[in-house]
Amino acid sequence: MTTVTEDTELSGLRDALGLLKDREQVALRLLESSARHSFDPDKELDWDAPVEDGKWFWPPELVSLYDTPLWKRMSEEQRMDLARHEAASLASLGIWFEIILMQLLVRHIYDKSVTSAHVRYALTEIADECRHSMMFARMIQKGGAPTYPVTKLNHNLARVLKTVSTTPGSFACTLLGEEILDWMQRLTFPDERVQTIVRGVTRIHVVEEARHVRYAREELRRQMVTAPRWERELTRLSCGEAARVFSIAFVNPQVYTDVGLDRREAVAQVKASGHRREVMQTGAKRLTDFLDDIGVMRGVGRRLWKSSGLLA
Ligand SMILES: [Fe+2]
Ligand SMILES: [Fe+2]
Repeated sequence: MTTVTEDTELSGLRDALGLLKDREQVALRLLESSARHSFDPDKELDWDAPVEDGKWFWPPELVSLYDTPLWKRMSEEQRMDLARHEAASLASLGIWFEIILMQLLVRHIYDKSVTSAHVRYALTEIADECRHSMMFARMIQKGGAPTYPVTKLNHNLARVLKTVSTTPGSFACTLLGEEILDWMQRLTFPDERVQTIVRGVTRIHVVEEARHVRYAREELRRQMVTAPRWERELTRLSCGEAARVFSIAFVNPQVYTDVGLDRREAVAQVKASGHRREVMQTGAKRLTDFLDDIGVMRGVGRRLWKSSGLLA
């Protein structure tokens, strides 16, 4: 005869086994997808082709100043120049995120079975991110704009975060870094007004990123059920704070100075731009809906999301 406690323990064990099995199945599917759709950007893209005259480095509607009074005063040449610098700024941000993510993934698998599909997939994803970061760096160089590092403060905040963050916190931040940029890239690669090299880079990234998003979502969903209460609370808070920092760091304001604009005026106009707010909120919508669904968007965390301007 089993006692109530044993029953609870057994069902807990069954749940854990179910989750574990599910985790392996997801990883196996992602490994199959990786085997079918992985790219070597060094070979796949024509890096020697000249930069094309009259083509954008980033779709104009996705440039921060688009549709502002300042944008209307800018020449077409200056607008395209700003797009080129913003593409470099976003690629720099992308590399920063990917380097953080690689460390989070390495930490995530440190205590897990090395022969599991879950770990094998994590290693595959780290390899994807290695190729992406090199690809983004080449794209920045190709465009001729400088790299745009985040501020010293954010750089060091992330140093702490990537060293101490909990598993659910890590995956929530991963999604924040991946989903909004991914939404923009989905609009970029099919756009014929855009430079061929940028279209190629964003196409590769979108294809490979889809499985990263899947992996992070599945893991975060699991963690928000299984993690202890304090960890779930901390995730809500740290994710909200990360959203706030992310929205500020998204485009480095040095880009405005570098194309000959008044930095303070440009930042103020971006802040006041209804178009920009809509772009950022639409870009974040898929993510914020998901986070809401799994219980990350509550309390102070939700208020931080609101203050980031990414949540309507
Ligand atoms: Fe990536
Ligand atoms: Fe990724």
